[in-house]
Amino acid sequence: MRFSTAPKPSEITPPAVWTARRETLRKLAALGGLAASPWALAQTASTPWGTPRSSPFSLTDDKPTPFSTVTSYGNFYEFGPDKDSPAKHAHRLRTQPWQIRVEGEVLKPTTFGLDTLLKLAAMEERVYRMRCVEGWSAVIPWIGFPLGELIRRVQPTGNAKYVEFISLADPEQMPYVRLPLLSWPYTEALRLDEALHPLTLLAFGMYGEVMPKQNGAPVRLVVPWKYGFKSAKSIVRIRLVEQQPQTAWMKAGPSEYGFYSNVNPDVPHKRWSQSTERRLGEFSKRKTLPFNGYAEQVAQLYSGMDLRTHF
Ligand code: MTE
Repeated sequence: MRFSTAPKPSEITPPAVWTARRETLRKLAALGGLAASPWALAQTASTPWGTPRSSPFSLTDDKPTPFSTVTSYGNFYEFGPDKDSPAKHAHRLRTQPWQIRVEGEVLKPTTFGLDTLLKLAAMEERVYRMRCVEGWSAVIPWIGFPLGELIRRVQPTGNAKYVEFISLADPEQMPYVRLPLLSWPYTEALRLDEALHPLTLLAFGMYGEVMPKQNGAPVRLVVPWKYGFKSAKSIVRIRLVEQQPQTAWMKAGPSEYGFYSNVNPDVPHKRWSQSTERRLGEFSKRKTLPFNGYAEQVAQLYSGMDLRTHF
């Protein structure tokens, strides 16, 4: 396992420099030379959302994992299969302009530009425990708003039962989508009630910063009671559908990755146990909790279901 000591963007660019750059962009915008987009200004290492409100849904006192660890170790197969591939290659991702198309079983199919999306609801900072199916975990302060705020805007029809998330798959920016590592584009899905659960976050940033590219910029999902792969990165399309969709990992290994993928220490992955986890940056292991510690908030979504069959 390799950790780099990549500094935060705000550490790379001294504040005086990015403040001056912001000012120049503002002047250019005033002259009509540049769209006065808050997201454009955000690219200068500040954020377009001011101070996010702290949220009652930060349900952990665990210390956040260092930013440098979370940005240098992860999975984003569009940029390669190794844990350090996203940090090495994701600089190729162009996050602007960016749109998300929301369609399917909805009365108001809509294409949202990033700036519109950012203004849909109040930004919150939420510290969530995250658990990867591979046995590592992290604690991350995300910035975003509940996905339900977006879904309600498009007015789901009575036929909408599931929500599918589709990530960008552009071989020019994402070299590994030329290889059959997974079925591209990367897709994930939730049941509609899971997608509308207040813990399900549409995230635009973390650690007070705009989302780093390797972590799924400019917009990704965060579902803290499910294994990390349910949290699709760099989303370009959201479809509300009647039938349960196949997901990228179900296609890759149907006997290893089920649709629900709730963190469940009692259901081992086919090749390894899920009973313990190692927090990134720590040496000893800790016990994995049912629903990753969020049982009180989400267990009722699955009442009456056998979670050994629906793993
Ligand atoms: N989203 C896309 N588009 N491509 C991916 O390869 N990997 C998933 C998930 N989302 C992945 C993705 C997996 S396996 C994990 S563990 C998490 O992203 C890791 O993201 P994070 O460490 O940045 O939270």
